[in-house]
Amino acid sequence: MLADEINKARDLLARAERLVIFTGAGVSADSGIPTFRGSGDSSFWGRYDPRALATPEGFAENPRLVYDWYNWRRSQLRAIQPNPAHHAIAHWQRTRRAALITQNVDGLHERLAPPQSLGIRLHGSLADDRCCACDWRESVDFANLPPLRKCPRCGALVRPDVVWFGECLDPDIWALAEDTVRECDLMLVVGTSGEVFPAVGLVDLASERADIIIVNLDPGALDHIAAVALHGKAADIVPKLL
Ligand code: OAD
Repeated sequence: MLADEINKARDLLARAERLVIFTGAGVSADSGIPTFRGSGDSSFWGRYDPRALATPEGFAENPRLVYDWYNWRRSQLRAIQPNPAHHAIAHWQRTRRAALITQNVDGLHERLAPPQSLGIRLHGSLADDRCCACDWRESVDFANLPPLRKCPRCGALVRPDVVWFGECLDPDIWALAEDTVRECDLMLVVGTSGEVFPAVGLVDLASERADIIIVNLDPGALDHIAAVALHGKAADIVPKLL
């Protein structure tokens, strides 16, 4: 029974002293943002080729196509709002302590995050651009999207500041994520397929000493290590937990 499982998860949350909330694209699905994977052809990687749009090689081959695709995603974000799952997570961060680690680049958690709360973005942000060659960075105005352009400092192309397949995560961000997870006594995992490394390794790391609660639309690869796996929409389930 889902109600029994929810009660079990609530008991774990009530006892937790160091909660880490780890989210993926599914937490934003109820805001109207497609996930990357999942059933049906509405997911991004069901409709588009990840090699063409989310690798350094794809960008080198057709930078305008790639940059325009990210601008299209940025333009959609203007009309999108955080959903009850984002609100419940932010409320918990405000009233209890929890570290948030997200794979998402959509910025929806950040819109609600209380000041001083720990939020770790593993895969960068759609809200920023960076130079392909030097350390120049710029935030992007979603109301006035810039075209593909060259870095004003070194002349190389500018790209979205997100992590693509085949690229390393920022070592400082990864170290902070690992340290945070090593200290947790409970991890709440929301809306991730658990298919992308190294991010999913954080769930394995947590499971060495903490209980895991999973909230996901469908049964998935991580369910076997979970103390509780809850299947349904994040926007329905997460507010019942937090
Ligand atoms: P995925 O798209 O791989 O997985 C999303 C998960 O959310 C799937 O397991 C869905 O079943 C589930 N889901 C869908 N709708 C849901 C809902 N309403 N409530 C709860 N769960 C739902 O997304 P991630 O695991 O985040 O990288 O993907 C990891 C990375 O792969 C992403 O960060 C992205 C991608 O390439 C970058 O953008 C850099």
